[in-house]
Amino acid sequence: MASVAIGEVYKSFGAVEILHGVSVNIEDGEFVTLVGPSGCGKSTLLRMIAGLEKISRGQIAIGERVVNNVAPKERDVAMVFQNYALYPHMTVAENMAFSLMLKGVSKPESDAGVHRAAEILGLVPLLARYPRQLSGGQRQRVAMGRAIVRDPAVFLFDEPLSNLDAKLRVQMRAEIKELHQRLKTTTVYVTHDQIEAMTMADKIVVMHDGIVEQIGPPLELYDRPNNLFVASFIGSPAMNLLRGEIAIDGSPSFRGAGGFSVPLASALSIPNGEPVVLGIRPEHLRLSDDQGIPVTVAVVEPTGSEVQLIGRTAGGEEIVANFRERHSFTPGETIRLTAEPGLIHLFHGETGQRFQTRADQ
Ligand SMILES: Nc1ncnc2c1ncn2[C@@H]1O[C@H](COP(=O)(O)OP(=O)(O)OP(=O)(O)O)[C@@H](O)[C@H]1O
Ligand SMILES: [Mg+2]
Repeated sequence: MASVAIGEVYKSFGAVEILHGVSVNIEDGEFVTLVGPSGCGKSTLLRMIAGLEKISRGQIAIGERVVNNVAPKERDVAMVFQNYALYPHMTVAENMAFSLMLKGVSKPESDAGVHRAAEILGLVPLLARYPRQLSGGQRQRVAMGRAIVRDPAVFLFDEPLSNLDAKLRVQMRAEIKELHQRLKTTTVYVTHDQIEAMTMADKIVVMHDGIVEQIGPPLELYDRPNNLFVASFIGSPAMNLLRGEIAIDGSPSFRGAGGFSVPLASALSIPNGEPVVLGIRPEHLRLSDDQGIPVTVAVVEPTGSEVQLIGRTAGGEEIVANFRERHSFTPGETIRLTAEPGLIHLFHGETGQRFQTRADQ
């Protein structure tokens, strides 16, 4: 096992720079997810760790060793891709043994390694089958088996579940997490699915346009996003974001477009009139009688476990609320929603940076 240190890494393809100084420290044994919109550079960064792309500037170390100029097969990493492409003419056992054979491992030792990995992944009954005789989830497990038999210092996964249907994804997600708890191998896992990122990771790296927006444990990112990008990217349904300004009249409040106001924590030190964006997670909104944000109900979606409401503020901004209680709403009616001051996020209206609130300390 090993740590991975990514220090001020840049990547250009020709004249186009697509990674602009990325630094991430991954501890030995940690499970880290790289998440971000399509094209932000996740796969490129992962491929640089694997040695499949050259590093334009900066350095990557695996354990104590700087690997900038180390060949992929010397790096002691195993990568699982989205298109895991098993060899169709080889059985499951042969697919898994292939890399060991290339390394010159003896037959008995290779058999033992394959068997151990097959046991971990529940593949023992399938060892003699060919890939075409497997379901999508079983094929994905074989692809992981190929990585496990190599007993690498670091696992690299690039969206390994994106070809699977929704139910299987959830199951495989739990399996990969359990596997990591057993093997404790340092893992870097790329996904653009923020739920996958949240549920699997010890630490999430949120990327956007070739830079790192924030690094932290899942719940820290959820509870204290550093900026508007992370606030809107992490969480589903997304955080409600309303534009307005600070109004100080004795105690501070937020004044939104359309004239409503929301009381804020009194220790806040943002000047009167400052343009801000107010953030409230859908599950933190509560119904209130007379105070709060007036919202016109547009769509009501009962899912059984909760009721999701989509509405509009007087300023025309969309707002989503999730209730555990079974309220009944009528489209077109106006209700009022509030949130506790401690659960309200504030971001600078221009830079998008988070204002530190009392709950942050
Ligand atoms: N070999 C290449 N030559 C030129 N540009 C490339 C090359 N590989 C990637 N890029 C560009 O680099 C940027 C980042 O690509 P990358 O594949 O790392 O994104 P990603 O975050 O993995 O996206 P996705 O979620 O869609 O997989 C993209 O704009 C892409 O077009
Ligand atoms: Mg990618």
